[in-house]
Amino acid sequence: MSTKLTETLQLPCGATLKNRLGKSAMSENMGSRGYTSNEKFNRLYARWAEGGIGLLITGNVMVDRFALGEAHNVVIEQRIQDPNLPLWAAAGKKEGTHIWVQLNHPGKQSPKFLSKQPVAPSAIPLKKPLDRLFNTPRALTESEIFDIIARFAYAAKVCQESGFTGVQIHGAHGYLVSQFLSPTHNQRNDQWGGSLENRMRFVTEVYKAIREAVGDAFPVGIKLNSADFQKGGFTQEDSMGVVKKLSELGMDLIEISGGTYESPAMMGAKVKASTQAREAYFLDYCEEVRKLVSSPLMLTGGFRSLQGMEEALASCACDVIGVARSLAIQPDFPNQLLSGATVTSQVKPLTTGWKFLDKTFPLEIIWYTDQLHLMGEGKEPNLKKSALGSVWTMVYKLGENSLKKVR
Ligand SMILES: Cc1cc2nc3c(=O)[nH]c(=O)nc-3n(C[C@H](O)[C@H](O)[C@H](O)COP(=O)(O)O)c2cc1C
Repeated sequence: MSTKLTETLQLPCGATLKNRLGKSAMSENMGSRGYTSNEKFNRLYARWAEGGIGLLITGNVMVDRFALGEAHNVVIEQRIQDPNLPLWAAAGKKEGTHIWVQLNHPGKQSPKFLSKQPVAPSAIPLKKPLDRLFNTPRALTESEIFDIIARFAYAAKVCQESGFTGVQIHGAHGYLVSQFLSPTHNQRNDQWGGSLENRMRFVTEVYKAIREAVGDAFPVGIKLNSADFQKGGFTQEDSMGVVKKLSELGMDLIEISGGTYESPAMMGAKVKASTQAREAYFLDYCEEVRKLVSSPLMLTGGFRSLQGMEEALASCACDVIGVARSLAIQPDFPNQLLSGATVTSQVKPLTTGWKFLDKTFPLEIIWYTDQLHLMGEGKEPNLKKSALGSVWTMVYKLGENSLKKVR
């Protein structure tokens, strides 16, 4: 059976993706003590490359070791030498697959146990009850803003030199780029805040600095929110304005997601039943944005079946199908989908059986991260593992603090 998923895609920079399936970023929480990657990353990404996917986007890699989003993040910055990076890149490229590093700065979404005083566009805390887990940030000075922009560019250059085939700016889910874009979180009255043009200055400067560092032929993408799903926050209209601008600047692939820690729409929370039926959480938005730009679009969140993916591609709303959780448990999902087989995702709601525990721990994150760790250890994913079992495993590996429910 022929499927649109098998078609290649040429990006504006000239690079070609071998098919239309992309693995969306999933933080591995697997870095070594000195914020470096290790052989577990190589095993995990080799496993995914063998599974047939066209594009692998790594879990978020931070650009400053003093600004971590989670325990065991990998960091790329001037003071850190990571001899494993070329091996990680080579593992992910095995089958002609693209492997891009997702670069991130968490801004205020850096939990208390990692950051006494995080930085953000403005000194505005996350709203209740998250303010118990995150300290109130202080506002960045202008020279610090320029320093972070330079850090993104430096990290992108290191990725290119290490053999990765692209980078993705994490501009979604409430992290620093997304904080700059949000009128609620960004209340600056200098050139970095206020109008949409000013709020998007940070992301456009990050893009331009990266582009200057890596040249015109290297893929640079972004993951962007369709909206923050918060009153007074970054709206769909704002988002479309940003997509238009980034498209004009030459962004190679714009991945659409949505939500923040305050309103985690990216994982399907608050999704209407009618949207669930169409699988993709942000498809309606993508259909609208498609009318405005010709840049390649990747749509992520909720895809579970070949039919759902085919329909989204056929509607021309997007060019690449983004998949995350399914690949943590079914690394061969892409090969099966590409063969046209009627295969569906095994992603299901998770529960420990204890309401209190379900409320306390972000089970989706814990259970799927545990599956990534299994593959990193050279084992197969274990669909039978209980959510409770994963909570204990990850508490043991990462510490209780890192597992509090933040999204
Ligand atoms: C364990 C886990 C870690 C994640 N880490 C990241 C991340 O580092 N960067 C990011 O942009 N999204 C991250 N996400 C969100 C996914 O990329 C994706 O947007 C979301 O899971 C919806 O896609 P799905 O329905 O195919 O799982 C993570 C999701 C999971 C389950």
